[in-house]
Amino acid sequence: MSAAREEGTVPLHWQGRELAARPGQSVAAALLENGVRSWRRTRRGGRPRGLFCGIGACYDCLVRLDGGPEVRACLVPVSPGLRVDPGGAVPEHDPCEQDPTRRPPERDAVQHPTEEDA
Ligand code: FES
Repeated sequence: MSAAREEGTVPLHWQGRELAARPGQSVAAALLENGVRSWRRTRRGGRPRGLFCGIGACYDCLVRLDGGPEVRACLVPVSPGLRVDPGGAVPEHDPCEQDPTRRPPERDAVQHPTEEDA
């Protein structure tokens, strides 16, 4: 049994838990409004990610809707009964997990030249 939703809201299912969302708001906004601050982990390092740019430019907000492919939660409006699950899970066949030499460099691990390098 789920908690009573406020009038005018629609149900949204986050990892099996029913949340209340307002029609027209983005999935990201609905998650934030329900206290969900991060909804996926990075493939490398497992760092939490959620809303960052909020305009569809960064891809930090990836989720899976109704078991489909990953989409940007900040761009998709909620629809009644939508099932939302985390994006960014590492699939078993991820070639980067099989062969670490194929991994791109970590963004925050890039070494910038210093005056001592000159
Ligand atoms: S928060 Fe950047 S694409 Fe959604």
